[in-house]
Amino acid sequence: MKKATILIGSPRKNGSTAILAAEAEKALKEQGVDVATIFLNDLKIKGCQACYWCKKNDVAECAVKDDMQKIHTLMKECDGMIVASPIYFGGVTAQAKAWLDRMFPYIGMDLTPKMPAGKKVSFIFTQNQPDARLFRPGIDSFMFAVGLSGLLVKEYMVGYDLDAGNKPAVETKKEFMDRAYLIGRELLR
Ligand SMILES: Cc1cc2nc3c(=O)[nH]c(=O)nc-3n(C[C@H](O)[C@H](O)[C@H](O)COP(=O)(O)O)c2cc1C
Repeated sequence: MKKATILIGSPRKNGSTAILAAEAEKALKEQGVDVATIFLNDLKIKGCQACYWCKKNDVAECAVKDDMQKIHTLMKECDGMIVASPIYFGGVTAQAKAWLDRMFPYIGMDLTPKMPAGKKVSFIFTQNQPDARLFRPGIDSFMFAVGLSGLLVKEYMVGYDLDAGNKPAVETKKEFMDRAYLIGRELLR
């Protein structure tokens, strides 16, 4: 059975990001994929402590024993991942950025990727501003950095003009719901 991990960087369990991530999860489960969905906000993940233990020992493992270890295990076992985050101040949330910094064990000093080959990653971003292009620098930089680990970047979407509770609910935006479903459906194909 194939496995996928979905990481959600929003603190809101019923926010637009979580709802789009659930569409992707539905598509994966319809294919019989075993999906683990994690709200990063529920975990205790420190920022990288810059101890360079992973580099000194040349291992794709982290010396910091906190909840990131659960994610390392999930990442090792899965065939693909979806990372979903709202845009905060032009980039991903602090929860998603903490996860990214803790991906340091998967990047060699010469930028050699250390993630076992063949694992895929797609992204779901949401933002309030109606112009989907506005935060491309932050989005591109995040996806590029994730790709340095050796995860194969597949697809991404930006759901825009979204502000749960104040603007029309994301469920009413068929284009975004369909796109999120497709991201899930295509992840492991
Ligand atoms: C602290 C904070 C910063 C935000 N910064 C931005 C921003 O830079 N650009 C933007 O378009 N929306 C911004 N937003 C709005 C959220 O990105 C948007 O509403 C998103 O869909 C929220 O996702 P959620 O419903 O999953 O929590 C911000 C929201 C918060 C709480």
